[in-house]
Amino acid sequence: MDCHIQNLPFDPTALHGLSEKLLLSHHQNDYGGAVHRLNAIRMHLTTLSPTTAPGYVWNGLKREELMATNAMLLHELYFGCLGGNGSEMSPAMALALSASFGSVALWRDEFAAMGRAMGSGAGWVLLVYQPREGHLVNQWAADHTQALVGGIPLLALDMYEHAYHLDYGPAAGPYVEAFMANIAWNTVYARYQQAIYGVSESLGANHAEVEGALLVDVRREGVYKTALTRIAGAQWKDPSDIELWAKELPQDRAIVVYCVYGHEVSRSAAMRLRAAGLNVRFLRGGIDAWEAAGQRIEHKATAT
Ligand SMILES: [Fe+2]
Repeated sequence: MDCHIQNLPFDPTALHGLSEKLLLSHHQNDYGGAVHRLNAIRMHLTTLSPTTAPGYVWNGLKREELMATNAMLLHELYFGCLGGNGSEMSPAMALALSASFGSVALWRDEFAAMGRAMGSGAGWVLLVYQPREGHLVNQWAADHTQALVGGIPLLALDMYEHAYHLDYGPAAGPYVEAFMANIAWNTVYARYQQAIYGVSESLGANHAEVEGALLVDVRREGVYKTALTRIAGAQWKDPSDIELWAKELPQDRAIVVYCVYGHEVSRSAAMRLRAAGLNVRFLRGGIDAWEAAGQRIEHKATAT
């Protein structure tokens, strides 16, 4: 079945520092061109047989198919990341960046520096969730085919000339800043949540499975500080510092981490701790469902 061109998910006249002319040209000529190319390559492949076509012809077309497929997907991600103000970020997204890079500012510095450094060449800079280690990384790619195995891309910066020369000429730095100022963080966060859910679902622990496990409260610092209760016997650890305290947890004991609702905060912590070799699950429904079920809690002020 032919792939179809998706519309721009934002008003191209409304972005800051990226002109309508540039955005429409990028969308129609470069993204649209990739989609048309992919359809043509696939059609061409149907006319050949892998058993009779010369290997260089078959593999040449398969290589072009990969190039066009990733060009389509990466451009859809790129456009899907724009339309915001670059700064409004949910606390959980900020936590995810801090837990992997030290802080949002440190993530930003690295991501933007990688983009600027591509000004003398071309390629992509990607923010990717890497399930094997349970963390976020900034990935370098010199062309459409360079992808991190198993990684789930969340944010894409296009550093091909066609993405900025119409507005900025060869000045990559101001283009990178304009890109950063237009990031729609709500869409990045939604992709992050989806990625975490997809890889962590099998790690959920029900209430009956908590018995005997070491309980670790990983609610965000601001949330934990204002909460009145925690699960009886639990110890709180700041999820933004997970790298620091992961090594303090026992290797020989079942561990259950929990957050407020059992969403991405505890799920991502579980993924990260499992990568460190620990036997960790997350509590389904978090402390919210635990309390609603009448399970044992303790008041923070009176707990020992
Ligand atoms: Fe592009």
